[in-house]
Amino acid sequence: MQMNHHPISKLALVWLTLLCSVIVSFAELEFGHCERVVKEWADTSSSPREEHPNKDKRSLQDLLFFLHVPRTGGRTYFHCFLRKLYDNAEECPRSYDKLHFDPRKQKCKLLATHDDYSLMSMLPRERTSVMTIVRDPVARVLSTYEFSVEVAARFLVHPNLTSATMMSGRIRKKNVISTLDIWPWKYLVPWMREDLFARRDARKLKGVVIIEDDNPYDMEEMLMPLHTYLDTPTAHDIIHNGATFQIAGLTNNSRLSEAHEVRHCVQKYKNLGEPVLQVAKRRLDSMMYVGLTEEHRESASLFANVVGSQVLSQVVTSNITSKTTKSEASVKVSESGSDKSEIQNSTSEVASNKIEAKSGNMTVKTLMEVYEGCITHLRKSQGTRRVNSLKRISPANFTRGTRTRVPNEVIEQIKSLNNLDVELYKYAKEIFVKEHELVSKKMVSTSKRSIVDLQNVFGEMEAEKMWKLVSVALMLLLLFLLFLFVNARRRITSKVKMKKMKSKKIVCESDSLQLINIVKKGNNIPLISLVHP
Ligand SMILES: *[C@@H]1O[C@H](CO)[C@@H](O)[C@H](O)[C@H]1NC(C)=O
Ligand SMILES: *[C@@H]1O[C@H](CO)[C@@H](O)[C@H](O)[C@H]1NC(C)=O
Ligand SMILES: *[C@@H]1O[C@H](CO)[C@@H](O)[C@H](O)[C@H]1NC(C)=O
Ligand SMILES: *[C@@H]1O[C@H](CO)[C@@H](O)[C@H](O)[C@H]1NC(C)=O
Ligand SMILES: *[C@@H]1O[C@H](CO)[C@@H](O)[C@H](O)[C@H]1NC(C)=O
Ligand SMILES: *[C@@H]1O[C@H](CO)[C@@H](O)[C@H](O)[C@H]1NC(C)=O
Repeated sequence: MQMNHHPISKLALVWLTLLCSVIVSFAELEFGHCERVVKEWADTSSSPREEHPNKDKRSLQDLLFFLHVPRTGGRTYFHCFLRKLYDNAEECPRSYDKLHFDPRKQKCKLLATHDDYSLMSMLPRERTSVMTIVRDPVARVLSTYEFSVEVAARFLVHPNLTSATMMSGRIRKKNVISTLDIWPWKYLVPWMREDLFARRDARKLKGVVIIEDDNPYDMEEMLMPLHTYLDTPTAHDIIHNGATFQIAGLTNNSRLSEAHEVRHCVQKYKNLGEPVLQVAKRRLDSMMYVGLTEEHRESASLFANVVGSQVLSQVVTSNITSKTTKSEASVKVSESGSDKSEIQNSTSEVASNKIEAKSGNMTVKTLMEVYEGCITHLRKSQGTRRVNSLKRISPANFTRGTRTRVPNEVIEQIKSLNNLDVELYKYAKEIFVKEHELVSKKMVSTSKRSIVDLQNVFGEMEAEKMWKLVSVALMLLLLFLLFLFVNARRRITSKVKMKKMKSKKIVCESDSLQLINIVKKGNNIPLISLVHP
């Protein structure tokens, strides 16, 4: 038996090794191919043409490109800063909707979008300033999950998926961009919607469903659990390392033809991520503004001082403070569009936004005040919508407190799946600290400088004028003394005629006043200019 078996097993072993080596060499080939693809992309992406070292990145160019990474709080920047600073006419048409936008044809000044950095290939690179906001990847991923659920749940008002899908197709209007038209929601929401309907149908079939656990991230009867969501092909392609891919220009939505191969290679071989991370870091370096969702107040203040102040000064110098806002040009970015009343509510939001439209006399300080008021309003309406929407999947509910219910191993899983974003976020924090320090120093030095300026004004005043000023003062003093002397003498000589004396005194005083005026006019001393800010 053993003698018979031996050659067969030997043969099998040979085959097995052969097969293994074939597989291994295929894998090596593929890795080698990926390595090359990524390297080529990285080389072209960090060419000198990409960077402009001679230019001050902090000076605002003709076009401001807001690279809006989803779920970083960019919406409040868009509505409460950018829309207050720019006229509707200055905003690129249908910013968030790339299908309808051709930047070459438009002379617009503001472009806010979820499109990735590859859009730069269509923009006038030398005349474009880029800004973005980065968020802790764990918070960003959790927020993406919650928002997918929130928007999808709005459709549960419909009796079935067919009706919901048909309805959402019908309500797409001319001037309203629905969340469903915008990447990445156009993939994430319909997918989640389908899932919610399937689970609802399953519950209906089962009859009574008792939900014992109240952890909204793991409530299988109601919605796709978070850990399942994280490990889907869609999440791998769209959500994980989303910030890095978007800033590198490698998203699932990229305009660059090789982007998809590069991305897939990086997703497959983790150690190929490094060149992508490096490109993303260099891009952050060259951006005009990098905000942090977590440092909300400081970020807003940095924005107002770095970007806001320059837009405001442009408004003053270009002298086009036309307050007229064409309603046709206004495009509302709706967060969804599952029913009519929401659209109506959104429209009224637009109207209220436009009341406090941009004006020539806005300062950084008033901009911040307008912003604060606006975010309070925006957050309130967003909160209401969220509660109204999540009510349809009750008892699942996402609130500030519920994120503590996410198990530690899931948090670790998110960090591991978003390893590049974790690094990029660290780097963005470093940039932020530097920029923040720089701007605070600048602000201190400008206030110091104004004092110095004031001293210079005194110093530059010609000595001659100074002496004239002194001599005028001396002369006035002399006149006053003389007047006192004469007055006193008269009082002594004729004590009886007191009334008469008083009227003479008035004449005398008005004479000396006139004298002062003449002296001032003659010397033309710029007294007012001394109080320049
Ligand atoms: C879905 O709902 C609509 C509206 O109630 C109904 O007309 C349609 O027959 C339903 N479709 C299915 C497949 O149940
Ligand atoms: C982007 O991702 C979605 C969802 O996974 C997919 O349907 C779509 O085909 C992807 N697009 C590209 C260009 O890969
Ligand atoms: C601003 O525009 C008005 C009319 O449009 C013009 O009369 C005025 O001279 C302009 N001022 C500057 C500083 O360009
Ligand atoms: C629309 O807004 C009104 C008042 O602002 C509110 O009562 C109503 O519930 C809102 N509708 C929806 C669907 O959010
Ligand atoms: C601009 O000035 C006008 C008139 O002086 C004033 O009514 C308005 O409130 C000011 N706007 C801002 C934003 O300060
Ligand atoms: C969800 O939580 C919010 C905030 O705590 C609360 O206002 C709302 O009523 C909750 N929704 C449901 C359906 O319990």
